[in-house]
Amino acid sequence: ALGADTLRPTAHYTAEKTWLNDPNGLLHYRGVYHLFFQNNPNGRTWGDMSWGHATSTDLVTWEHQPTAISYTDDEFVFSGSAVVDVRNTAGFAQPGETALVAIYTSAATPDSGAQTQSQALAYSVDEGNTWVRYEGNPVLDIGSTEFRDPKVFWYGGEDDGHWVMVIVEATNHRVIVYTSNDLRAWTRASHFGPAHAVGGVWECPDLFPLRVEGTDETKWVLIVSLNPGGIAGGSGTQFFIGDFDGETFTAENLTDSAELEDYDWLDYGHDYYAAVSFNNAPDGRRLMIGWASNWLYARDTPVYPWRSAMSLVREVTLERRPDGAYAIAQRPILPESGIEVHRFTAPKGERAVATVSNSDGERVTITAGDGALVVDRSQAGENDFHPDYRPAAAAPLPEGDVDVTIVVDGPIIEVFADGGRVVMTEQVFPARALDRFEVS
Ligand code: FRU
Repeated sequence: ALGADTLRPTAHYTAEKTWLNDPNGLLHYRGVYHLFFQNNPNGRTWGDMSWGHATSTDLVTWEHQPTAISYTDDEFVFSGSAVVDVRNTAGFAQPGETALVAIYTSAATPDSGAQTQSQALAYSVDEGNTWVRYEGNPVLDIGSTEFRDPKVFWYGGEDDGHWVMVIVEATNHRVIVYTSNDLRAWTRASHFGPAHAVGGVWECPDLFPLRVEGTDETKWVLIVSLNPGGIAGGSGTQFFIGDFDGETFTAENLTDSAELEDYDWLDYGHDYYAAVSFNNAPDGRRLMIGWASNWLYARDTPVYPWRSAMSLVREVTLERRPDGAYAIAQRPILPESGIEVHRFTAPKGERAVATVSNSDGERVTITAGDGALVVDRSQAGENDFHPDYRPAAAAPLPEGDVDVTIVVDGPIIEVFADGGRVVMTEQVFPARALDRFEVS
């Protein structure tokens, strides 16, 4: 069954015929969105980790580009971020050039005999086409084997600002903040955590400001991926809302509860992980991409010849609710055609049951109402390729009318409920496209 190009999504990015995981180095530069990603250029499972590369001008059609930063005998190129070094603070650009700088985790390869994870730079002076490793690597090494996924951004004004890095000490459940003036020398400024979900390692942090809709107030959002121990089991992405002064993040939404349901999750499904945002997106938009899979079973999904997709690009916004709490809403960037988008409202006090199916009777059932959103993928096709591929995921919904948007693109279903405040991403493996829709 896997000889053919199985249900490849169109608006969700996939590598041509290889493995991918986390989005890396998300950056907008001169009208082009750059998506780098964890990629095995040689195979369909995790290994030989390198930064693959794709570009887009509309966020829904992606063009494959050559590998940006390749693994070596000693180094796997793990997750990280990229910046436009407009002021040439690192000195990589010659007069007339602008350097894009990637900050990635240099992970010792299994064959190297070492286990260190340190932070390294690579740069491009041709708008991201070719990348050169900085000869002074690593730029940040604390002798740790669990120190990774640097997200770097510029904080403050043109003249009085500085670079900020958030990075995890994965097994300590800590996000560490470092600062720098030149991307080469880094000073430890503060740490955040452990907090909320700590049932696995912390990975892939992000930190960014969002204006509270309809006000002049700005809040900061700290994203922390966690694996395992997520809300749906396995990989999950939580967030914290608070303030950041350039050195220290202070969360406002902390609870003492030990229940996963009491924390804040960017997505309640099984398949949304390692989500990070673009640097330098136009118009102050905050655009994010997650990896639409789960480490529980990612290596075994029955797709071919590619494996794993990115989520759709999502715009995130922040609002203050009548009860004073802050809420994040997500809205997918949709193509004009090529994928299925279904919308309905679950009226107050009732339960709406939506089915997305095909002529073989394979189906996904989405139930909204009674204070819950449930996505059941148990009848959606192949489901026995891994024992941890779980049948259903649930999320809390408010009382009252709830709007639901369901996006179906090949094997990926993204559900946005209650104005995008509740989101679920699920992978399914039907024999043919789920092109029928019913709601009752
Ligand atoms: C998250 C992650 C990162 C790491 C990368 C390796 O999915 O484990 O922490 O940098 O994948 O591919």
